[in-house]
Amino acid sequence: MMAHRGVLEDHDAGLTGTRPGRQHWNVNTVDWAAIRCDLLSGAPDILFYLVAASSFLEATTEHYTANLVVQFRGDDEITSWLERSWLPEELQHGRVLRRYVEAVWRDFPWDGVYDAFLTEFAAHCCSEELEPTRCREMASRCVVEMGTAGYYTMLSRLSPEPVLAAVARHIADDEIRHYKHFLRYFHRYRQTERTGRLAVGKALSNRLRMIANQDSAIAMKHLYHARHPGEPFNRRVYKRLRHSSRQLISPHFPYRMCVEMLLAPLGLPPRARRIAVPIAAMLARRLVP
Ligand SMILES: [Fe+2]
Ligand SMILES: [Fe+2]
Repeated sequence: MMAHRGVLEDHDAGLTGTRPGRQHWNVNTVDWAAIRCDLLSGAPDILFYLVAASSFLEATTEHYTANLVVQFRGDDEITSWLERSWLPEELQHGRVLRRYVEAVWRDFPWDGVYDAFLTEFAAHCCSEELEPTRCREMASRCVVEMGTAGYYTMLSRLSPEPVLAAVARHIADDEIRHYKHFLRYFHRYRQTERTGRLAVGKALSNRLRMIANQDSAIAMKHLYHARHPGEPFNRRVYKRLRHSSRQLISPHFPYRMCVEMLLAPLGLPPRARRIAVPIAAMLARRLVP
């Protein structure tokens, strides 16, 4: 059985032992001294953009998710998990990735570039648009965690440098665990709110469209300016960066795992799922990232 199958099959069992606030790893347990900069000398430049952009986006989590806690006020289990486990873990992802960037690309002024990025990012993305019901919002959160789980799984697979591979694996495991939490809460609210498959599908597609928005373009722009002072960041440059990243990412991206995670909230009958998963995975391989 492939490793990713367990993500969905044991999501209830997997959550049983998850305690709020428990952290399996942190910035101090990473073996920073083991970083092999020599293994990165031949790596494509786009790897810097991927890691640095991730550190920026993770670090912004608290700037646009306050309204998520507000939407679930009164459900103490969820708000407590969001505030005590989920948010601290997302912010830790940002801190760890930042430390990696500063350890490897030493001339990159993380603070200054992040400040410029955050100013522009905050103007565009003050707060996330939430779905109209709790059930639909939980489905939407599953899509976000599916995206990050796939991204860091891919990063851990493609990294030529072992510390980055280990960090990305830790983060991917966190994101998969976050997904399991949101999926469990989704199931709970689907029952109480009696949400149909069509409404769930709408929440999933809304979020998929938002994932492909301008967040990473803003990060890429500021990273590019830091590396190429004075040079314009135009459509042609962005397309070139996207092309490089697609070439690097595609062979390592866990398309099937992501498709299974994406379709799980729909609760398709087994026969329909057996047909839908491989077709959707094939389409995803052609269309994304
Ligand atoms: Fe994260
Ligand atoms: Fe997450």
